[in-house]
Amino acid sequence: MTVWLRPERNNIPMDKIIIQGGQRLCGEVQISGAKNAALPILCSALLTEGWNTYHNIPDLMDIRTAKKLIGSFGAEISGEASVRVNAANMTHAEASYELVKTMRASILVLGPLVARMGVARVSLPGGCAIGARPVNLHIKALQDMGADVELKDGYVEARAKRLKGANIYFDISTVTGTENIMMAACLAKGTTILRNAAREPEVVNLADVLMDMGAKITGAGTDVITVEGVDRLYPVEATIIPDRIEAGTFMIAAGITGGDVRLKGCNPLHLEALISKLRDTGMDIMPIEGGLRAIGHGKIRSIDVKTQPYPGFATDLQAQMMALMTVGNGLSVITETIFENRFMHVSELTRMGADIVIQGHSAMVKGISKLRGAPVMATDLRASASLILAGLAAKGKTELSRVYHIDRGYQTIEKKLSALGADIKRVRA
Ligand code: EPU
Repeated sequence: MTVWLRPERNNIPMDKIIIQGGQRLCGEVQISGAKNAALPILCSALLTEGWNTYHNIPDLMDIRTAKKLIGSFGAEISGEASVRVNAANMTHAEASYELVKTMRASILVLGPLVARMGVARVSLPGGCAIGARPVNLHIKALQDMGADVELKDGYVEARAKRLKGANIYFDISTVTGTENIMMAACLAKGTTILRNAAREPEVVNLADVLMDMGAKITGAGTDVITVEGVDRLYPVEATIIPDRIEAGTFMIAAGITGGDVRLKGCNPLHLEALISKLRDTGMDIMPIEGGLRAIGHGKIRSIDVKTQPYPGFATDLQAQMMALMTVGNGLSVITETIFENRFMHVSELTRMGADIVIQGHSAMVKGISKLRGAPVMATDLRASASLILAGLAAKGKTELSRVYHIDRGYQTIEKKLSALGADIKRVRA
């Protein structure tokens, strides 16, 4: 197989988001499809020959990157809210540094490419703002399945005529690791057992899609997943689950502005840890037809939060919860156990008047009565969301730069917030 490198250009828009804080958010918001379910599911199309159709795909920068990546292998891909992918005629098995560096989830093509093509060359993602984020567990699992894996010139090169079923134990529960190996195992010879597997709803959504393709999977949603390899998978039509992190962010927006927001199309079962915590802060969260209603009452009780793999409190909601705690009525201890450097928002929140001290893996947040608007900078996706939330509650103007981070994971967030009554706009820098 000839492996080609396809350089891409990054045209990163330098827009800003400007918020005049102080508006109570009220009304209804439609929750989009989950980024972190759509990404592996789009990659799963590489396991099949023929047209797959995926509905409820969010319109996000990471999705556009994934589409470019899948297209770069020679697969046909088209559509937006409903995306069609046909990987019958793949010509390349290389994920270039240019694409992988803009989206770490690109590593999700490694398992499907080796399983389907017998070879894959995928750039190592490297570290990112929230931590080192190695992919050693993905690689070790593929080796356990009989792949020859070499690290060369910053790339993972994996080869296996046909992967073999194996007993895999993940030292750490890894979401994309579980997804990658579950996809690879579908076309392996024999049975693969994944232990300490991730239990996130996005893993279950992917497993459901794979099973519709003809894969034999049991245990998805528990920490032991069993995959009996099959010779072939078939194209499917599937729907992406709602984005629980986007939903959670809007619930916190209701809390921090003392608002009343109805979230349509979200799945309350995926949000239980957050719902419980928000109720502890004094919010009312209630089921409504097709979603949830989140009501803030102005006074916010300070609570402690510790991030954990699902069903624990999601690390992807830690920064947003911290924004809420900055205006709590006491002291809150927020502990991050998943990523070693996911407190980049702290220094920016502090610029808005927040009283936060970091001690090891915990942030001590002493609530203040009012944040002040300030120019702030987004450092990663969820940090950006927390700064927007802080801006909604702050007195005066907040100007958020490096908005491209938020575009990776929130579909038209400023339009959705504006429809709820926020004074928010996007401007070209
Ligand atoms: N880890 C290793 N070795 C590995 C893989 C992971 O040491 O081979 C470590 C990580 O460094 C981290 C922990 O294991 O400390 C868990 O990381 P995980 O692999 O679960 O993270 P991920 O799969 O890279 C996904 C989401 C993230 C989310 C995390 C945790 C996708 C595309 N990304 O990342 O989403 O924070 O799980 O839930 O599903 C986001 O959307 O903003 C985001 C960062």
